[in-house]
Amino acid sequence: MVKRILKVVAGIVAVLVLAVAGTLLYINWSGIPTYPPGKVDLKVEVTPERVAGGRRTVQLLCASCHLDNDTGTLAGKPMPDVPAQFGSAHSANITQDEETGIGSWTDGEIAYLLRTGVRRDGRYTPPWMVKLAKISDEDLKDIIAFLRSDDPLVRPVKAKRPLSKHSLLTKVLSRVVFKPLPYPTAPIPAPDMTDKVAYGKYLVQARALCFPCHSADFAKIDDFTPERSAGYLGGGNAMPDMNLVNVVVVGALAGWVASVVVNRRHGVLLNVIVGLTGSVIGGWLAWALHFPIVGSGSGISASAGGAIILLLPLSVLPHRLPDRRRPRPT
Ligand code: HEC
Ligand code: HEC
Repeated sequence: MVKRILKVVAGIVAVLVLAVAGTLLYINWSGIPTYPPGKVDLKVEVTPERVAGGRRTVQLLCASCHLDNDTGTLAGKPMPDVPAQFGSAHSANITQDEETGIGSWTDGEIAYLLRTGVRRDGRYTPPWMVKLAKISDEDLKDIIAFLRSDDPLVRPVKAKRPLSKHSLLTKVLSRVVFKPLPYPTAPIPAPDMTDKVAYGKYLVQARALCFPCHSADFAKIDDFTPERSAGYLGGGNAMPDMNLVNVVVVGALAGWVASVVVNRRHGVLLNVIVGLTGSVIGGWLAWALHFPIVGSGSGISASAGGAIILLLPLSVLPHRLPDRRRPRPT
């Protein structure tokens, strides 16, 4: 009786595992989703005042990622600082070159991308490319005027940049937390420049975008009400960092817990392997279910949970195998 119930449970779990694996395979294959590109009717006048204002914002906000030291222009470059678990990143060529840069983009297409993160072909720019949710319309126009100007930083440079390669994690995150921002439906006025505090707040929240880096977690940023971001300006935005020893210990523990639960003991090495595989399964399940993994305690639980899911179907199989394949009684 117990065996039959176990078999049914194992069957259900196996179907679940297959469904999760299938979903992940699909996400990995299809990549970051695309979205319908917006049509924005905008024509920005390129005046010296706008270009000067735009240059300041671009130097503050964009140059760190897009500045190519070889040409001294915004022709893009590799971004080795993006943590490896997100894949490899390369910033785009945003000089005025018509083919490899953004020389053929309309003002409206640039505005839509900078506000929402969606390119003119519908592709979403990766999470680490900035999205300007709250910058004033005037400052946004200044940026566009600058990108269109004859400033040496944006002179046409022919340089085809490879697209960033996204990891499965980035692709999953881009379906769960990192999504296009809505294009504003009402005008966004400039702050009162005479009120120094209001202006400073605008810099931190909208024009210089200090708050995403200086809060607790990029995945828990509130773009429109920055104060509601997790740990707003409290710092500590660290990447989960596990050294190898930790990984092995957590893996072994999780594998052991799972082996006890499904009553199939095996050696330490197999425990580590089962635990680590389990941590991948558990990790994705936790993400899919919006279950936060914080600290090593819940890390081990998630890993053990994943390992149990992994072992359960296996635990039923040997019963159908010939005697010699059965585990020796202990
Ligand atoms: C933290 C790094 C980072 C910052 C800051 C940043 N970008 Fe980007 N940008 C990227 C990356 C990475 C891509 C996309 C590359 C890819 O898809 O492979 C990108 C793509 C773009 C594109 C799309 C170009 C195309 O051909 O598809 C434009 C336009 C752009 N950025 C403009 C800007 C502007 C303007 C700013 C400042 C307001 C800015 N970026 C700030 C990293 C950054
Ligand atoms: C791309 C991410 C990023 C952005 C954007 C950013 N910072 Fe930082 N900031 C950091 C990091 C990382 C450190 C810590 C450097 C270290 O500890 O060596 C830092 C350090 C600082 C410090 C020093 C704090 C201390 O205790 O030493 C101040 C002040 C600061 N930032 C203010 C700002 C302001 C103001 C802005 C917006 C104009 C801003 N930051 C934008 C990442 C960022």
